[in-house]
Amino acid sequence: MCGIVGYVGEEQATPILLEGLEKLEYRGYDSAGVAIYDGKKLEVAKAKGRLKILKDMLHGGSDLKGTIGIGHTRWATHGKPSDINSHPQTSVSGKFAVVHNGIIENYLSLKQYLMRRGVAFVSETDTEVVAQLLEYYYKGDILEAIIRVISKVEGSYALGIICEDSPNELYAVRKDSPLIVGLGQGENFIASDIPAILNKTRDICRLNDNEIVVLTRSGITVYNTDKEEISKEPEHINWDISAAEKGGYEHFMAKEIMEQPKAVRDTISPRIKDGRIVLDDITLTPEQIKEFRRIFIVACGSAYHVGVVAKYILEKMTHIPVEVDVASEFRYRDPIIDEKVLVLVISQSGETADTLAALREAKRRGARVLSIVNVVGSSIANESDDVIYTWAGPEIAVATTKAYSTQLAVAYLIAIYMAEALGTITPEEYQEYIQELETLPDKIEKILENKQDIQYFASRNFNAKDIFFIGRNLDYAMSMEGSLKLKEISYIHSDAYAAGELKHGTISLVEDGTLVVALATQQKLFDKMMSNVREVKARGALVLGLTVEENKQIEQEVDFVFYVPKTCDIMLPSLAVIPLQLFAYYVASMKGCDIDKPRNLAKSVTVE
Ligand code: G6P
Repeated sequence: MCGIVGYVGEEQATPILLEGLEKLEYRGYDSAGVAIYDGKKLEVAKAKGRLKILKDMLHGGSDLKGTIGIGHTRWATHGKPSDINSHPQTSVSGKFAVVHNGIIENYLSLKQYLMRRGVAFVSETDTEVVAQLLEYYYKGDILEAIIRVISKVEGSYALGIICEDSPNELYAVRKDSPLIVGLGQGENFIASDIPAILNKTRDICRLNDNEIVVLTRSGITVYNTDKEEISKEPEHINWDISAAEKGGYEHFMAKEIMEQPKAVRDTISPRIKDGRIVLDDITLTPEQIKEFRRIFIVACGSAYHVGVVAKYILEKMTHIPVEVDVASEFRYRDPIIDEKVLVLVISQSGETADTLAALREAKRRGARVLSIVNVVGSSIANESDDVIYTWAGPEIAVATTKAYSTQLAVAYLIAIYMAEALGTITPEEYQEYIQELETLPDKIEKILENKQDIQYFASRNFNAKDIFFIGRNLDYAMSMEGSLKLKEISYIHSDAYAAGELKHGTISLVEDGTLVVALATQQKLFDKMMSNVREVKARGALVLGLTVEENKQIEQEVDFVFYVPKTCDIMLPSLAVIPLQLFAYYVASMKGCDIDKPRNLAKSVTVE
């Protein structure tokens, strides 16, 4: 997500911070800023847009003098990209400056608490709450104030903090968001990622959750929340810069696959409070939801595949008919739309040309538009009536993984939320769905722990010429994504079929050794799927079966099985997609393909 760099030493801090932030640019951001203690007070400089704007503003750093400071590149979550919303954020008197990665989930109630006590806020960010709280609780002991603040905030954070009253000390603390300390000679650093400081030092310490570090130019001290000192073993980094950018993974895609438990958790958990879904982000009322007669979902690529899954879920839960369209088709097919239609637009980038045009067409025809978008302040987000952001962080690999998973998580939130408003699910079902939703991140993690099984299967089959993916209902929707992922990055011809449709034509392509991936996660269709597996096995196919742990009988039908943990049927796509992504990744990796930048493809398609 965002990037943090902090410095305390003998050299000028600003150029070091700017250089560190430059090393984090690859992660994507929309604004940047620094705060420096200039000998008298904290000076803040920040600007929306590329880091170069900030750099030019500060004449390469020479305009802001001082030997201690914090810097940040922001990827907007709370509040649009703007100068004011950029970090560092400061407290009301300017005494504290803070940079923050992560999401403060209860920022709104904390902000209201402070505002009732006369604290004036200037930004829309959750981060400003931290800066303001620090000053509010500060009684002369910064460490004490930090401990107090972290006992109040909920969510995830990596924080870099400086305070005018203690101009030789840099503070940092983290929870569920990475932060490292870099150890130098007469200088020390903090950073959210190793590349930021790799040309300054290769000796680092990793902070654990709720450890607070105080850095001076001569050393570091780490405390727990009882103010007891903790000893830390430094680690020496041998990676080169390109490995470091990928967090030690060989490709961004691998890193992003592994980030999915966190991305899904970050997207879901701030929206579930006391067992209820709270969508602060949208203005859609239960009364308006009751007026909808039809839902259209429009998107492109993998986002469209999320739409195909969402159709099943929304129809089942809300009983409202749903149509899913590829955006490039929707915009030219004269869809029958009026104000009783909800159009759900799904896009990672928020800039896909066809999706944006479809959105405009829908609005022109009077529909209400709710979008699911990853990039805050993007065109699709700006032009929608309501937007629910996925908090996946920047996605760099062209083939989407964590954006897909978080979009799906939001689709569940919307479906459950609407179904409750419509009374189409019982209170017991509502609770059950929410509980299942909350367990998804852990279950995804569990699947990722078994990734070597998929790697093994890929190692035996990466030379396949054609691969077919088959499934029924939600498994068919998942087959589409599995097939797309595979062909995007491995260049193997692949297609997805509704398993029952296979015998109406495509089965003629199945011959000895043809690889078929059979998805059989949906309990009520399991036996039907096994019949289809037998059909292709009888023609010589080699079959990889994908099902839930309890369906052990599948072992008699297929050549290789991968199990996913159990959850309610409608949420199984969130789990089933993980082995499909892993399979595509390992096959492409074994074929030596350019995984992060597949030929002919672009991350964001801004032309028709
Ligand atoms: C491109 C990407 C796909 C993505 C699609 C839609 O084709 O390669 O991964 O699913 O665009 O992009 P969006 O940003 O609208 O989700």
